[in-house]
Amino acid sequence: MNTIITVDGPSGAGKGTLCQLLAKATGYALLDSGALYRLTALAAIKAEVALTDVQALAKLAAGLDIAFNAAEQGVTVLLAGKDVTREIREEAVGMAASQVAALQPVRDALLMRQRAFADGSGLVADGRDMGTVVFPSAAVKFFLTASAEERAKRRVLQLESVGQKADERQILTDIEARDKRDRERASSPLVPAADAILLDSTKMTIDQVFEYAMATIKKAA
Ligand code: C5P
Repeated sequence: MNTIITVDGPSGAGKGTLCQLLAKATGYALLDSGALYRLTALAAIKAEVALTDVQALAKLAAGLDIAFNAAEQGVTVLLAGKDVTREIREEAVGMAASQVAALQPVRDALLMRQRAFADGSGLVADGRDMGTVVFPSAAVKFFLTASAEERAKRRVLQLESVGQKADERQILTDIEARDKRDRERASSPLVPAADAILLDSTKMTIDQVFEYAMATIKKAA
């Protein structure tokens, strides 16, 4: 059975962690669609393609040589055979990703690649438009949010936990800029699907979010 669960929402709301937990608990495959936009952005930066050169970016997205390898410590992401797992998570790559993601030809180029992840064994799809555009007939759709301040706080803790310095005010400014671009763009803006379940994680722990999501999925089965 090809059950698809979508989790959309702004950056830093906890989608990534929730999707990993859900994929583990259900045994379904995982699609981190943000990683595809991040990989497109990183490939553009490396090839010195301008983030305004729409046709070149779409070509780059269509031809991406990428692999996702499941490992003990999580998923390893490869671009042209090179491990870029950490590099694609850098703030600058995230900002560039949100720029290339606003371009419809880039989104078109990545659409079939995303749908190919639903290969029949069930899928948990993490992104901005999973429930609205990529998998509109998904069985269960979540829209996970948290206040921008709370998301900035979580990002600071995450960076500090890996020994990186973090400027909370700068991070909050970046989060708000990225939210605005994702929400206001013409192509696949960040909006909940009409049939999405809204989940505000501002005052919830990740365990509470996971328990609630699992209970909802079981009810829907
Ligand atoms: O989720 P993540 O922060 O890794 O995504 C990076 C960027 O990719 C987002 O800011 C957003 O602009 C874009 N994105 C998107 N559609 C998706 C997933 C991500 O536009 N389905």
